[in-house]
Amino acid sequence: MATLFTGISELRTVSTLGTIKNAALVARDGVIEWVGPASEAPADFDGETVDFGGRAVLPGWVDSHTHMVFDGNRAAEFEARMAGQSYAAGGIAVTMEATRSAGFERLDALVAERVAAGHEGGTTTFETKTGYGLDVESEAEAARVASRHVGDVTFLGAHLVPPGEDAERYLDDVVGPMLDAVKDHVQWIDVFCERGAFDEAQSRRVLEAGKAVGLGVRVHGNQLGEGPGVALAVEMGAASVDHVNYLSDEDIAALAGSETVATLLPACDLSTREPLAPARQLVDAGVTIAIASNLNPGTSFTSSMNYCVTTAVLQQYLALDEAIAAATAGGAKALRRHNVGSGKDPQGRPAKGTLVPGAAADLHVLDADNAINLAYRPGMPVTWQTWVAGEKVYSA
Ligand code: NIG
Repeated sequence: MATLFTGISELRTVSTLGTIKNAALVARDGVIEWVGPASEAPADFDGETVDFGGRAVLPGWVDSHTHMVFDGNRAAEFEARMAGQSYAAGGIAVTMEATRSAGFERLDALVAERVAAGHEGGTTTFETKTGYGLDVESEAEAARVASRHVGDVTFLGAHLVPPGEDAERYLDDVVGPMLDAVKDHVQWIDVFCERGAFDEAQSRRVLEAGKAVGLGVRVHGNQLGEGPGVALAVEMGAASVDHVNYLSDEDIAALAGSETVATLLPACDLSTREPLAPARQLVDAGVTIAIASNLNPGTSFTSSMNYCVTTAVLQQYLALDEAIAAATAGGAKALRRHNVGSGKDPQGRPAKGTLVPGAAADLHVLDADNAINLAYRPGMPVTWQTWVAGEKVYSA
């Protein structure tokens, strides 16, 4: 199946090809075959043509940090926070109760809804995590549900010590039977390395166990205060360290000299009233950053990547190009799905987060002729269509 997309006012390739004005793109069997000025489009094209009517096109968002497998909400906790209470990790236990009692079918339907909502907002690639089951059976169920909908699934059994449990005994489960039960359904392991959750030694134990069974590593770190999360992530070769609100100069230098992506979660920062992560400082230091939604019921009940990108531009002092790159190619790097040459990712699959030949034909079409409308018209419904692997999955 081949499609020639025309009527593209600007094609933001998020690559060395830059932004192409009055562009066209050819996709074949889900993969980009050609991009360039419309005036140079292949004359002998044999497939169907789709005209975007003079709209801007960018790579679909890569949402590299979500927690989609949950039931219930924590609106009361949020309202109390807006009235002055501070965020504490203990709220995770409330969602644990609701998630444990939901059952496979309900969780499956909820995750399907959340993926569809992501498509409505221009997201084409999702990561998601376990972490609200917190016992062997419920974490295994969450991993099975997640893997039915999402390509990159992260095991986050080490999200919180369940109430009434001893931390070390719980960790015996996490690195033993729990890891065993989930490992065929997940690609990544993660730990909430933070005061009130897991300390450095405990976090190291979790990550080492995951590595030993072939999982990639990521870390929730430096969200609520300075701490060992970033240093541990870099030392362990983590693909990303996520949150990064409180960073020392040493943390920033360590990230700059590493392949670990710093993932910013601006919707979470606003919802928890933590200082916004220092995006400008990280970029200026040469750190690769990603922007993700952190969809979850406690700290970020939104999957709107448009909102996150808008916030990064308006409040975190990123230029539009920088924010778009973070929410596309940056997210792809955090999942190791980025372009390493010829549009392919490190495993030879079509890369995500870039619009070059060989990459996935994942398109975010804006109802505007220029992507600056994302920040210029904050909160407006800017997403017009979303295409995954050359197939339309959403139209306004
Ligand atoms: O990424 N920080 C840890 N985990 C989630 C929030 C969990 C919750 O409060 O439900 C996060 O913000």
